[in-house]
Amino acid sequence: MSFSKEFIWGVATSSYQIEGGSYEDGKGLNIWDVFCREEGKIFDDHTGDIACDHYHRYKEDIKAMKEMGVKGYRFSLNWARILPNGTGYKNQKGIDFYNNIINELIKNDIIPYITLYHWELPYELHKKGGWLNEEIIDWFAEYAAVVAEEFSDRVKYFITLNEPQCFVGLGYLQGNHAPGLKIQIKDTFQIIHNALRAHGKAVIALREHAKKDIEIGYAPTGPMFYPATDREEDINAAREQLFSLPDDMSNWTWNVSWFSDPVFLGNYPEEGLKKYKKYLPDITKEDMKLISQPLDFMGENIYNGAMVYSGLNKEIKFVNRYIGFPKTSTGWPVTPECIYWGAKFLVERYKLPLYITENGMACHDVKSVDGRVHDPNRIDFLHRYLYGVKKAIEDGINIAGYFEWSFMDNFEWNEGYDKRFGLIYVDYTTLERTWKDSAYWYQKVIKENGENI
Ligand code: NOJ
Repeated sequence: MSFSKEFIWGVATSSYQIEGGSYEDGKGLNIWDVFCREEGKIFDDHTGDIACDHYHRYKEDIKAMKEMGVKGYRFSLNWARILPNGTGYKNQKGIDFYNNIINELIKNDIIPYITLYHWELPYELHKKGGWLNEEIIDWFAEYAAVVAEEFSDRVKYFITLNEPQCFVGLGYLQGNHAPGLKIQIKDTFQIIHNALRAHGKAVIALREHAKKDIEIGYAPTGPMFYPATDREEDINAAREQLFSLPDDMSNWTWNVSWFSDPVFLGNYPEEGLKKYKKYLPDITKEDMKLISQPLDFMGENIYNGAMVYSGLNKEIKFVNRYIGFPKTSTGWPVTPECIYWGAKFLVERYKLPLYITENGMACHDVKSVDGRVHDPNRIDFLHRYLYGVKKAIEDGINIAGYFEWSFMDNFEWNEGYDKRFGLIYVDYTTLERTWKDSAYWYQKVIKENGENI
């Protein structure tokens, strides 16, 4: 068995990264609107004010998705477009924008997958402490209830949080993402506990307010690991490393289990409860019950990983990358093995159908003299990673879909528009879209249902 007929060939984006229209139709500010105004925070002081102008060009973009043949489109809602203050007053024009997108997708037979939080925290809530304030659990649930009420008559799939590892780590620990804070380590634990409880309460709110049967998931990420050989010891080493927790606190949120065990298994990992004891907030049984609401699927954003093996004394050893190891234009290594092993280990541990909610690469894409954008590296990358997905499915691992990141070039956070992840090239001066070779390639892959992968 390879890719089934139901397999969701998808593409993904997020609101701040593509929409633009940042000050239109009653939208409230979010932390990125404000952070981008601070000089020197973003590459060349780029902002998402216009981004890909998807706000005005969504019809053209959805038409391109249809042409590409995509079955599912994962996008996020800009919380402050819907609730300009984060809670309370509802902005009908913002709701209409998403209604238009949803209706257009459905008209084109594309299944919407909505992410509630892809880092667009309303600025009004940030002023009240944002993720540091426990009240965010209720704020997020209120927003989730509105989302269910407004959209669940037509949308079946909802994802609560995107990459909590990154919005906490980059936004609050390292400070290079919005809101640009460098808080105490202890407070990062509090934020995560708040975010996970907010996730749980949002799941309850979504189900309570849903107009139809819906499916809910979660889209974390983390460092991936894969074994150097098929020896059992090496496989065990990779698995152990995948779910282990860092000692180095400067980047400690970059891990899988602290964010996924509570949600899927109902417990923070034992190793962390010991190791991080002095930082922990109060954690009650009720909290864990709230956090571990039953979910219908899991998501994982998978980009790269490291190769490990088991040493003579069963210690986990890392394989150095050889000189000239392939890498993307963000400097990330090309390690397709990680998608097979990551999917396998995750599904074995958390026992839910998995969507690869993001995978893709940034290339140095340019429009060539022939007017086209040739990106053989991206085609090669996607081919290799999709082969990993295929192999995993053939080994019985339940992978329900794959969302390529990203449908089009967009605002890559603190890297601004410098890094291009899209299947579609965006000329940011004219906003003209050009299909890269990889877009045509993906179109063919979808058409053949991956049979030549
Ligand atoms: C993860 C994030 O979810 C997305 O917003 C980002 O653009 C991509 N990975 C690439 O870095």
